[in-house]
Amino acid sequence: MTGDTGQGDAIISATGLVRRFGDLVAVDGVDLAVRRGEVFGFLGPNGAGKSTTVRMLTTLLRPSGGTARVAGHDVVSEAGEVRRRIGVALQDAAIDPLMTGTELVRLQAVLFGIPNSIAQKRGADLLDRVGLTAAADRRVGTYSGGMRRRLDLALSLVHEPEVLFLDEPTTGLDPMSRMALWEEVRYLNRERGTTVLLTTQYLEEADQLAGRIAIIDHGRIVKKGVPRALKDEVGSPTLMIEVDADQRVAAEVLARYGTERTVDSGMLGIGLEGGAQQLTSVVRALDDAGITVVHMELNAPTLDDVFAEATGRRLEGADETESDVDAPPPTPDRTEDDPSAVTEGQSGDEPPRRRRRSAPLRAS
Ligand SMILES: Nc1ncnc2c1ncn2[C@@H]1O[C@H](COP(=O)(O)OP(=O)(O)OP(=O)(O)O)[C@@H](O)[C@H]1O
Ligand SMILES: [Mg+2]
Repeated sequence: MTGDTGQGDAIISATGLVRRFGDLVAVDGVDLAVRRGEVFGFLGPNGAGKSTTVRMLTTLLRPSGGTARVAGHDVVSEAGEVRRRIGVALQDAAIDPLMTGTELVRLQAVLFGIPNSIAQKRGADLLDRVGLTAAADRRVGTYSGGMRRRLDLALSLVHEPEVLFLDEPTTGLDPMSRMALWEEVRYLNRERGTTVLLTTQYLEEADQLAGRIAIIDHGRIVKKGVPRALKDEVGSPTLMIEVDADQRVAAEVLARYGTERTVDSGMLGIGLEGGAQQLTSVVRALDDAGITVVHMELNAPTLDDVFAEATGRRLEGADETESDVDAPPPTPDRTEDDPSAVTEGQSGDEPPRRRRRSAPLRAS
């Protein structure tokens, strides 16, 4: 993590950033260094402090403590300089529902002092890139959630910013829209050299898009690094089992094969030290102890494991209700209008789910 402290080449740097709301410390001493030209993922659960951090970095909120520089300027004393160089698509951006996409893009261009001659073509190109040409002259109030997010992105790009801040750009989007947005982020980064800081609650999104990530929880950064390296640190795969008998006895058996891992409630989890080769021994040992395995799965380390090791909690499925947790595993006869069925079986684009992508091993 040595590169993170050398802030020399950082285009976004924060040191000891703090934000309080009354007694609540929403951001509690965040240090960040995002390098020019990278896509940096800021990952964390609801209320972790992602948006508050972004709002401070984008000059919209004054820090209670610490300092931050973006694109070479201090976010407090040189806020205007920072604003000229950044694009921001906020999680809760307020847009006038009576204006059309075209009007909003033009307005944005005026606000940034872009001459009309340039603004028209650029606006049309942007709306085209985000797939909104056909809807460009419709009132934004009639747009779907996904169209709104795409318009937000177009608006943030009108002045061709060096640094782009995207706050949960794909929350609530269907898999197709999510992938389209990912493609656009990749394009901007690769072809335009735009530095991107994006916040997300989606592990998959951070994994797919970001060269480096920081995991934030309760206002503090608990992990930083390259996703692959963070997963390698976790090491062994996670074995999760569900038994129909006394969990304590099963836990004792499992303890012989690895150390306990945080998993969903109702399940037992260990880091299986010997890897997949040990599965048969584990099943045999459980059988010898008179325990029937109801469900078993083995997963290579994911960012969820990284999060769990750092916080003792799981991020994936954190939003789901108790009844979801108790629900039986997915059956193949789901209907087409079931939104979770649409994501089933597609790799790399699903929203957070309780169970992970690998095929469950049916053990009984
Ligand atoms: N304006 C505000 N006044 C009071 N409390 C606030 C304000 N803004 C944020 N908070 C609190 O600060 C904490 C961090 O909020 P923040 O919006 O930064 O979280 P987040 O990581 O963006 O979460 P989410 O994933 O839900 O968007 C939360 O406890 C939130 O309730
Ligand atoms: Mg937020």
